[in-house]
Amino acid sequence: MSTVMVTGGAGFIGSNFIRYWLGKYLDDRIVNYDLLTYAGYLPSLDDVVARHGDRYTFVKGDIGDYDLALATMKEHEPDFVVNFAAESHNSRAILHPEAFFQTNCVGVVQLMKAARDTEVWRFHHISTCEVYGDLALDTDEVFTEESPFEPKTPYNASKAAGDMAVETFHLTFGLPVTISNCSNNYGPYQFPEKVIPRFCTLALQGEKMTLYKTSQNKREWLHVDDHCRAIDLILKQGKVGEMYNVGSGIEVDVEGIADGILGVLGLDDSYKTYVPDRPSHDRRYLLDSNKIRNELGWSPEVDYGEGFAATVNWYKENEAWWQPLLSRAAEVDEGKWG
Ligand SMILES: NC(=O)c1ccc[n+]([C@@H]2O[C@H](COP(=O)([O-])OP(=O)(O)OC[C@H]3O[C@@H](n4cnc5c(N)ncnc54)[C@H](O)[C@@H]3O)[C@@H](O)[C@H]2O)c1
Repeated sequence: MSTVMVTGGAGFIGSNFIRYWLGKYLDDRIVNYDLLTYAGYLPSLDDVVARHGDRYTFVKGDIGDYDLALATMKEHEPDFVVNFAAESHNSRAILHPEAFFQTNCVGVVQLMKAARDTEVWRFHHISTCEVYGDLALDTDEVFTEESPFEPKTPYNASKAAGDMAVETFHLTFGLPVTISNCSNNYGPYQFPEKVIPRFCTLALQGEKMTLYKTSQNKREWLHVDDHCRAIDLILKQGKVGEMYNVGSGIEVDVEGIADGILGVLGLDDSYKTYVPDRPSHDRRYLLDSNKIRNELGWSPEVDYGEGFAATVNWYKENEAWWQPLLSRAAEVDEGKWG
């Protein structure tokens, strides 16, 4: 029986991870520690609380609050801390870069200090392929765990800084860390500022999907359940001090995403329109995931076509989940969420 402290568990991947973990490990407990920023949405866990509420605890807190993180760890004695908490939206990082460095780097350091001071068995940090920078559209190059960090945006740089801090906590303080650097995730419960839920919710409301002009930009897409399985394996079998790339090898550009959504929803091209690109928009990331595949036996289990269609249909069937988040997104844009 283990206790897992999940930070950022009210967000997209964290909430899917909590559902995955409590559904698989029937004696384990989860402590969800989340600040509930605009991206944190507790209704994403309503079904989990209904089914597994006796093994689930929520604590509202900032990973940058050392005292509260320490008190939470002392009270619940987690075996694992899995850090999903982050500012995660590249476009917002251009408006408020300081918030990204505060949470994604300084916050991570405070959380690790608490983990060090309570001697947790493993601190796992969730990171991104974006720390490596971007690739030309026509190259054969891929990012391995040995590729240098060459972040190009404030979000990328704040995550790269966080990853480097995690490595130094292992080297300097002996904190038993692992890191996973994952490609783009898709699946249910993603805040509708991100491309797949944004396009789905626009089209479902009869509005046009706005594509950036350089829409040949490609992303590598992994179903969130396959990401959860990778984290599970790393926690149970991963080597302390190591980082693991996690990707599917399936690349789709934004035009392909838009066309895929229109296909599933049975809509035509009139639902697409084009706008100028944002500054410093990364072109392409592609991970070499052979390390986790060869060492831990991980591989994606969700077929892209099936997972993508199921995701689009989930947004179609769950308007009650995303509708309140559209007004929240507008409030964030008006500066009402700090
Ligand atoms: N979404 C992707 O495609 C993707 C891909 C690779 C890596 N990642 C990484 O995975 C992690 C989770 O991403 P996501 O898409 O679920 O993000 P998200 O924005 O949906 O959720 C982030 C969660 O963190 C919480 N949070 C933010 N600041 C906090 C703080 N200071 N203290 C405590 N909680 C805080 C928010 O309330 C929210 O619940 C991030 O570290 C992100 O960099 C995401």
